[in-house]
Amino acid sequence: MIAGTPAAGAAAPYCAWRGELLWFVADPGPGDGDTASWRHEPDGVLLARGGRIEAAGAASALLAGLPAGTEVVDFRGHLLLPGFVDTHVHYAQTGIIASFGEGLLEWLERCALPAEMRFCDAGHARAEAEFFCTELLRNGTTTALVFATTHPASADAIFEVAAARGLCLVAGKVMMDRNGPAPLRDTAQSSYDESKALIAKWHGHGRLGYAVTPRFAPTSTDAQLEAAGALVREHPGVWLQSHVAESRAEARWVAALFPWSRSYLDVYDRFGLVGPRSVYAHCIHLDRADRERIAAAGAAMSFCPTSNLFLGSGLFDLGAASTAGARVALGTDVGAGTSLGILQTLNEAYKVIRLTGQTLTPMRAFYLATLGGARALGLDARIGSFERGHDADFVVLDPRATPLLAHRMETVESLAGKLFALMTLGDDRAVLATYVMGRRAHLRDATVR
Ligand code: GUN
Ligand code: ZN
Repeated sequence: MIAGTPAAGAAAPYCAWRGELLWFVADPGPGDGDTASWRHEPDGVLLARGGRIEAAGAASALLAGLPAGTEVVDFRGHLLLPGFVDTHVHYAQTGIIASFGEGLLEWLERCALPAEMRFCDAGHARAEAEFFCTELLRNGTTTALVFATTHPASADAIFEVAAARGLCLVAGKVMMDRNGPAPLRDTAQSSYDESKALIAKWHGHGRLGYAVTPRFAPTSTDAQLEAAGALVREHPGVWLQSHVAESRAEARWVAALFPWSRSYLDVYDRFGLVGPRSVYAHCIHLDRADRERIAAAGAAMSFCPTSNLFLGSGLFDLGAASTAGARVALGTDVGAGTSLGILQTLNEAYKVIRLTGQTLTPMRAFYLATLGGARALGLDARIGSFERGHDADFVVLDPRATPLLAHRMETVESLAGKLFALMTLGDDRAVLATYVMGRRAHLRDATVR
């Protein structure tokens, strides 16, 4: 399938990569999937120029017509997919990943918030941002929606490093003016002023975007949620990210703090925070009205399976989300999540969905990891597929990255089988290379197996 053909007579150099190509053009849905929802080229060529995709199609159709002098990088035997999209992650919690916990609120107080306090030190923030962005690229993630901490300098750090690495990244400083440790608390006014200044500095700067980031309803006063609503209204292009309905204890707390609310989601809705640029992590303990409200508002749900299992928060209902018509994508939610990798996130997603009596096919899983993520962020005109003109962000997966994967591949007979083994057994070792805007940003050390 040819998504475009090279423009004639262009001056910038072309780059081409040959391998097995897969990308999505629609949600395959819950069943076996409509083959029209994806494009697959067992021996394909991806052609880019100036960081943008010029063409993606069969090698037999494209190779002969490549502009003279085009270098073709040979990734035959490997799978090329659009770069993964992580729609919910806390970069400041990378250092405390895999800290023993006994549920969301206890873990937050004992592990996550103390780690975030250290981000008052801009040097620490910068070093952690460097480590985090390296890990994203090592895991094949090229786009992420990220929580910083309450410190504005922590947002500066992640934006500066993401820009230097070429990542497509949306982030925001956390707003929290109550129910947290004093060093992490801001005020309604200071959080408004600092967020506004960060929007002016970073939103729309290259591949960066800003997300207004109230941590979650319990840590914001009415005045701060109003301030968040004002920021969103005053800056129509910015995103809004927060948590909703993650654990039952948290939902009870919200009901006590906001006794007038119909539901947890309703708290955000009353302050104008449920809209087409809103991405809510977890969305587990919702009712039908909440899901339908998210869908009607054009907001998105970030499904964070490794976190939900780790904290024992509950099981995300993908079927109910889809029935309501809500956009859904994947989040790692590190540090409560246990991997920065989307492959391991899919591994756990499959199990969570099985526990709800439903299923997650490998085709839908990889849709969620790529185009689904791009759609959830409203970035699907630029990323998430190999359509002509899209940013040339892609991941090269090695189906034989480990002895066990290689052994399993000996009997795999279909594309779906290959994908399923990769998402079940694969991790950062299966990411051979990651490209952002046509530039190689990660290459696995071939000696590390
Ligand atoms: N709810 C509020 N803050 C957090 C956080 O940092 N992690 C998770 N998993 N849930 C939250
Ligand atoms: Zn989170």
